[in-house]
Amino acid sequence: MHLTEFLFALPKRVFNPILFSLLPIALFGQSEIEFSIDTKVDALLSKMTLEEKIGQMNQYNGFWNVTGPSPQEGYQKEKYDHLAKGLVGSMLNVRGAKEVRAVQEVAVNQSRLGIPLIIGFDLIHGYKTISPIPLAESASWDLEAIKTSAELGAKEATAAGINWTFAPMVDITRDARWGRVMEGAGEDPYLGSLIAAARVHGFQGSDLTAPNTLAACAKHFAAYGFAESGRDYNTVDIGENTLHNIVLPPFKAAADAGVKTFMNSFNDLNGIPATADKHLQRNILKGDWGFEGFIVSDWGSLKEMVDHGYARDKNHAGELALNAGSDMDMESYIYLREIKSLLKEGKVSIEQIDDAVSRILKVKFELGLFTDPYKYCDEEREKRVTGSKEIQDAALDMAKKSIVLLKNKENLLPLKKEGQRIALIGPLANDKNSPLGNWRIAAENNSAVSVLEGLASYTGNTICHAQGVRLVDTIPAFHQEVKINTTDKSGFKAALKVAKKADVVIMVLGEYGFQSGEGRSRTKLDLPGFQQELLEEVYKVNKNIVLVLMNGRPLVLNWADAHIPVIVESWHLGTQSGNAIAQVLYGDYNPSGKLPMSFPRSVGQMPLYYNHKSTGRPGADGGDTGSVFWSHYGDEKNTSLYPFGYGLSYTNFEYSEIKLSSDVFNSNGQIEASVILKNSGKVKGKEVVQLYVHDQFASVTRPVRELKGFELVELAAGESKKISFTIGPEMLEFYSANRKWEAEPGTFTIYIGTNSATKRKANFHFN
Ligand code: NOJ
Repeated sequence: MHLTEFLFALPKRVFNPILFSLLPIALFGQSEIEFSIDTKVDALLSKMTLEEKIGQMNQYNGFWNVTGPSPQEGYQKEKYDHLAKGLVGSMLNVRGAKEVRAVQEVAVNQSRLGIPLIIGFDLIHGYKTISPIPLAESASWDLEAIKTSAELGAKEATAAGINWTFAPMVDITRDARWGRVMEGAGEDPYLGSLIAAARVHGFQGSDLTAPNTLAACAKHFAAYGFAESGRDYNTVDIGENTLHNIVLPPFKAAADAGVKTFMNSFNDLNGIPATADKHLQRNILKGDWGFEGFIVSDWGSLKEMVDHGYARDKNHAGELALNAGSDMDMESYIYLREIKSLLKEGKVSIEQIDDAVSRILKVKFELGLFTDPYKYCDEEREKRVTGSKEIQDAALDMAKKSIVLLKNKENLLPLKKEGQRIALIGPLANDKNSPLGNWRIAAENNSAVSVLEGLASYTGNTICHAQGVRLVDTIPAFHQEVKINTTDKSGFKAALKVAKKADVVIMVLGEYGFQSGEGRSRTKLDLPGFQQELLEEVYKVNKNIVLVLMNGRPLVLNWADAHIPVIVESWHLGTQSGNAIAQVLYGDYNPSGKLPMSFPRSVGQMPLYYNHKSTGRPGADGGDTGSVFWSHYGDEKNTSLYPFGYGLSYTNFEYSEIKLSSDVFNSNGQIEASVILKNSGKVKGKEVVQLYVHDQFASVTRPVRELKGFELVELAAGESKKISFTIGPEMLEFYSANRKWEAEPGTFTIYIGTNSATKRKANFHFN
């Protein structure tokens, strides 16, 4: 935008101060110059009082019913006054075009400079139309579909006034006890990095000033996913090696993809709460990675540093956070109350404040909020876009792609379309709430298509439904613990009755929608409540069971795997859940999902991940496993039940041996590794061909294998295709003993196959 256009586009309160600083340039013939955002930020910053600057660093949660009368007393009145005085830079959880307009009007029309608010919201897996939980979407390994899902989430949310999402969560997660595994892309940094970038691109689009894109936020910086014993908010203690090789890559990928904001995290990392971690925020993120956006704290995480015993008091917490590079305070009220005195005492500097404010203003300019603060507040558009066919169709498409077929013995699936008597059993079979998953703040309760409803659109079979086990609460509040019944088995009788007479039994079991997610850690990874018992009882009367799982984390499924012929992992699939599941069960969609997290055999294996290190026992050659003195459990295998990358199809895929174009290359070269993939089954299907690399010897110990490439391929029945991967030095890089990313010469093994346990391998040398 040219200067004169820019000046006249400004809200009137911003217009005046900026006009005076930039007018001379405009008048003296330079109005055709494209003014950089940095120039505009500097001009605005130079007009701001200290209080106004601090205000930009303050974020409040949504408060009074904004379209009603303004609050007259109490803390809401205080917040309202702060908004009107320009002491609030952002609000979260205000939503709806009309509501957002109302708060924006207070900020723009009543504050001295009229700086618009940036409106944050947890758009994690859809706004009103809910898409699959992020872990489920990650199981698709379909980067385009994941990007589209974020894009359409942004379309719906921006129509409701939101212009900043606290997503993607890019935390690597290895411990299924942690409830927030549902919110990320699973255990692998390579897959996690690609998905992080896809989500950022989806949310932010190619034009951030467009009314249907929003600023994204990579969170939680850093290592929040490594909470000890999987208990949310717990201490994290990991070494540099894990931090750099496993935790940081998806954050770096998000930064490289141009993510506009980061969120730091609640956890203490190696003795320092992440909110006060200067090395992470100032040295790595803003320094080494050149990140130019801003960092928001997590909810009250400044204040929690007092509880961690790291900050003496709130004033000290403000000092620590700002010094460390945390730019905006979410709901701790600390920056607003403490920065002024901290500055006076010389504990923080005006440069630090100016830097934080500039970063925040810059993102506001980049969003185009100064040009039109109300561009997300078009009620007409909101009506048109919310729940539109385009968004529903994309949610259905994503849901189908997210389903993972774990077992299909005797090809019980796909179901026959006619003449079958189907018993549909389980507490989640007709539940319209659980499929919405955890982050569904704006969705209507009970708005998902249930499995019963989805199956009903196939009319050739007879369906008899029985819950078997009740849900304790059907519509819980967001913050409530929810239970699947553990005290009442009275529903078993009806379930067994329908099961006995059925040709096929479909059992829909798993976790209630709020059983995974923030604060939802578990010590058990079983089917909660009486569900396991119900499954075993039904099995006694009918063995033709299709087990459909709805859950937000890997579960322990040993008994089911040993007995039940068919297991379908459907996660929490969102609004279109039942339709997607029905289409997969009936074979109108051939499942192609692959697990983004290992499924354990026992909770005692946690944390469990495929890319672990070797130990000295047994040795690399298999060693002596006859004695007890090797790294194992006395009562369980070391391996997962279903490995990372695992998932079946209704067709079969055959792999040829690996062919290498050469078995040696150097730092200027590369080689090609290829396999021939053949669809040897009877129907069209998709396969994710996966490439893993193992560095046999290095300056720091390296994982037994690491995903370094994959290709999602669709083949018609009988079709073959050559799948090639280019292997160059960058694929071999890691954070070495030299504390930098580099590839070290040596011998490497690559594996190419259908999941992380594949044995098909070849060796090459890198000089
Ligand atoms: C706390 C969560 O940790 C974070 O992920 C979320 O964005 C904020 N609350 C805001 O809701």
